[in-house]
Amino acid sequence: MQTQVGIIGGGPSGLCLARLLSLSGIKSVILERQTREYVEARIRAGILEQGMIDLMRRAKVSERMDREGLVHDGIVLTFNGREERIDMKKLTGGHQVMVYGQTELTKDLYDAVLKDDNITVIFEARDVHPKDFLEGRPQLDFIKDGRQIALDCDFIAGCDGYHGASRASVPRGMITEYERIYPFGWLGLLSDTPPVHEELIYANHKRGFALCSQRSHTRSRYYLQVGLDEKVEDWSDERFWEELKKRLPGHIADKLVTGPSLEKSIAPLRSFVTEPMRFGNMFLVGDAAHIVPPTGAKGLNLAASDMYYLSTALIAHYTEGRDDLLDRYSETALRRVWAAVRFSWWFTSIMHKFNDDPIEHKIQLAELDYLMGSTAGQTTIAENYVGLPFDPSFK
Ligand code: FAD
Ligand code: DHB
Repeated sequence: MQTQVGIIGGGPSGLCLARLLSLSGIKSVILERQTREYVEARIRAGILEQGMIDLMRRAKVSERMDREGLVHDGIVLTFNGREERIDMKKLTGGHQVMVYGQTELTKDLYDAVLKDDNITVIFEARDVHPKDFLEGRPQLDFIKDGRQIALDCDFIAGCDGYHGASRASVPRGMITEYERIYPFGWLGLLSDTPPVHEELIYANHKRGFALCSQRSHTRSRYYLQVGLDEKVEDWSDERFWEELKKRLPGHIADKLVTGPSLEKSIAPLRSFVTEPMRFGNMFLVGDAAHIVPPTGAKGLNLAASDMYYLSTALIAHYTEGRDDLLDRYSETALRRVWAAVRFSWWFTSIMHKFNDDPIEHKIQLAELDYLMGSTAGQTTIAENYVGLPFDPSFK
């Protein structure tokens, strides 16, 4: 079996990359460990920056997103009983974000990819093993329905997330990994209830952080900061709603509509970066190369710049015979990665409870008070939240 680009992982990064390549006539094979249903059901990100929205349009999979996505101009921060709005649109000269769930985006991508003649998807591909990528022509070995198969390709795109096979196959001496694990996680709850507020609310509270997000006018997504030792089974819906109300200002808590959960799960928080993001003819993309704590809603949006840079570089290789962009991929992608790692770390650090020392909370409140009183402070949050630009010289 052979193709031009062998893609490990059929999450948003692998699917969108395959579509962007296909529109320039480049063929790819996607090896996905799970079934389509499993991948589509994973409840993850909910906020798209302009860069990800533009990529979905470029990949010609944006029809439903453009119809159903909710455009937001601002976010709300609450702390010390205060409710402060950051007008992102005004502060950034017109930039906005869109509420559109990763589940929906993934469905739209699969609908397009499975009809695309340039793309083959192999679900339930087991024991994927990248080989010979450091020099020469790489190969992807895998098992499908008990049969061992070898896929020859020109390039490998490792789009297989944090626990994938691509990064794990790099010789240890060639890779540097930077990691910070935070001493708490996020407990998320999805429910068919109207959102408590039309915009997202990020709440700093002395009991811990809370986030009021949404998927539509009738579906809400809420998160609570919880200890690393907490178990989902110990959180009944009632306990979740009671705790959420305690972390919101009274007038907002009074408006909260509660209901049965459709899903509840706990995600750990980490910052993680791999350097470099290229190993010979294998390139890492998205969560395979980097993870950020979710506070800034950056995970999926950071994968977007990797997909953009790698698709642009591969298209230049195949259509113009130029490899200068492939050579610049790692350095260019990492620059935006570190900017998002910094913002996500900083926003996490001013919004969460790290320990019981009351001076920590007082210092956070002073910083939030300063930021809200300063146009420069608010602009810093707004510019980073809507997403930093892709490098315009990468073409
Ligand atoms: P993934 O979505 O992880 O896709 C990787 C794909 O590769 C998966 O389909 C997987 O099955 C497949 N795969 C893995 N290993 C192999 C293998 N060996 N062989 C073949 N296939 C393989 N971001 C936000 O912005 N907001 C959030 O609220 C948020 N919540 C999150 C909650 C959780 C629990 C997690 C894990 C992430 C969350 N993120 C969030 C991050 C965001 O969802 C990711 O950044 C995004 O999914 C990255 O897409 P990806 O395609 O790079 O990786
Ligand atoms: C969502 C997740 C985030 O991490 C965030 O910052 C905003 C929204 C969400 O799942 O809706």
